Amino acid sequence: MNKSESEISYTGKYTPLSRTELVKKLQEALTPSRFNHVLRVEQTAIQLAQKYGESVEKASIAGLVHDYAKQRPDADFIRAIKQYRLDDNLLNYGNAIWHGVVGWLFVAKELQIENIDILKAVEYHTVGHQYMSKLAQIVYMADYIEPGRDFPGVSKAREATEISLAAGVSCQTQQTLSYLIENKLPVYPQTIITYNAWVPVQTKE
Ligand SMILES: [Fe+2]
Ligand SMILES: [Fe+2]
Repeated sequence: MNKSESEISYTGKYTPLSRTELVKKLQEALTPSRFNHVLRVEQTAIQLAQKYGESVEKASIAGLVHDYAKQRPDADFIRAIKQYRLDDNLLNYGNAIWHGVVGWLFVAKELQIENIDILKAVEYHTVGHQYMSKLAQIVYMADYIEPGRDFPGVSKAREATEISLAAGVSCQTQQTLSYLIENKLPVYPQTIITYNAWVPVQTKE
C-alpha cells in the first residue's frame, strides 16, 4: 500500500475519530485477513473518489467501515432486526446480507458516524440499491474490485469501472445475479430491484 495515501487526516466533519482511531476499531472487530481487505477497499475507494470527483475523506471512512459488522454473531443482527422493526424477510437470510443491510446501524452507533451518505454506502454495499449516490457506487465497486479480489469476471468489472461507475455497478450486479442463479442460491429481493435499475439500461447501449 502507498503509505502517503493511507495517512489522510480527517476534518472531524464525518466522525469525531481520527483515521488511526477508526483503523484501530476495525482491527479489533475483524480477523487479520478481513482487516486487510478493508484497508484495500479504502485505498481503492480513495482512488475512485479522486477519479470521479468524490470526497476522499468520505471514501476513506466508508471504505474502512463497510465491513465493520462482518464478524458479529447472528444474535446481534436478529436483535437489531426486531428492535428497529426492519423487514421480517431479513430473518430468512444471514450474515452475507445482514452485515450491510443491518450492519450500518452498528456503524452509526458504535463508530459515531452520522453522515447519511456514508451510512447508506455501508447499507447498500452487499445488495446495492436502485438509488445509489456516487459514494455508494464507489464503495460497492471498491469492495468488488480491490486488488486482493481474484475471481472470474473481476477484470471485466475493473475495466467497466474504468469507463464509469455506472458501468461498474451494472457489471457487478449482473455478474452477482448470474452467479447466484447459476449456483441455485437464494436471491435477496433487493438484488433484483438493483438489477432492474442498473443493468437493462446499460445493456441497451
Ligand atoms: Fe461486505
Ligand atoms: Fe467487503
